[in-house]
Amino acid sequence: MDIPKAELHVHIEGTMEPEMVFELARRNDVELPYSSVAELRSRYEFSDLQSFLDIYYANMAVLRTRRDFRELTAAYLRESARQGVRHAEIFFDPQAHLARGVEMPAIVDGLSEGITEGITEGAGSGVTAELILCFLRDQSAESAMDTLRLAEPFLDRIIGVGLDSAEVGHPPSKFTEVFDRARELGLRAVAHAGEEGPAEYVREALDLLRVERVDHGIRALDDPELVDRLRREQVPLTVCPLSNVRLGSFSHLSQHTLPRLMAEGLMVTINSDDPAYFGGYAGENFSAVREHLGLTREQLRQVAANSVQASFLDRERKSALL
Ligand code: ADE
Ligand code: ZN
Repeated sequence: MDIPKAELHVHIEGTMEPEMVFELARRNDVELPYSSVAELRSRYEFSDLQSFLDIYYANMAVLRTRRDFRELTAAYLRESARQGVRHAEIFFDPQAHLARGVEMPAIVDGLSEGITEGITEGAGSGVTAELILCFLRDQSAESAMDTLRLAEPFLDRIIGVGLDSAEVGHPPSKFTEVFDRARELGLRAVAHAGEEGPAEYVREALDLLRVERVDHGIRALDDPELVDRLRREQVPLTVCPLSNVRLGSFSHLSQHTLPRLMAEGLMVTINSDDPAYFGGYAGENFSAVREHLGLTREQLRQVAANSVQASFLDRERKSALL
């Protein structure tokens, strides 16, 4: 699907294709517990979010240097630009890398260089990108605050903060203080909520973290009052259809509640989450919902326009993309 769109929910570490896992393992002398790309790919059968996160974090062991982060990001932007993405707001998980001894400058410099390289290579498509630093919600609030402090010298290259990783048992309320601090520093705020966790976490993300978008948010449908509020306030939801199916929220894409979210008048966007693991980049998510949920071209155009509106781009660039 070549409709111009923004991708607002993609984890850069989740764009690392199995081939790149092997290439970086070789280059960085990291031993992998798989004998081939095919064997690694065969492990991508997930029952829930945690079963995915286990392999996602394990594969990150191969990411060591600034060059690795640069190549990963440039490759993602190249593929996304091919699929009609004109702007991407890219999550990264610094705590996962800091834990392996990779330092913040290597991470942020590598990611920023990758953006520059991707933009230059994709010059014809005019793609742009920003970075969103995510806190791992299954780690402590203190660790999140330490991570934000480490990122302070790099805030000219980070547009906002997010919240990801294992959701159930780790409510947004745990991170109120670090989100307050992030806002004081001029950062924008988003958070994963209502992916596997309850609708109440979506409320907390809005009321306590004061997020401008909710990542996933599919469980909001369990709570009609919350749905009314999301409609009234036109809170953007960054829905990830292929991800939701692969992580077991729906048995098949044809069962996804995306049409219901749209029928409720919510501001829905379509995104890839971790495309190397879930079987598709942004354009492939658009094509899949068209095929299995019967969304019309007009509806897909609306969803793509929503993604531009819900982005952190300035008004001028938004109008240029709409
Ligand atoms: N990190 C990477 N992908 C994620 C997802 N779908 N939910 C929570 N954390 C994640
Ligand atoms: Zn996500």
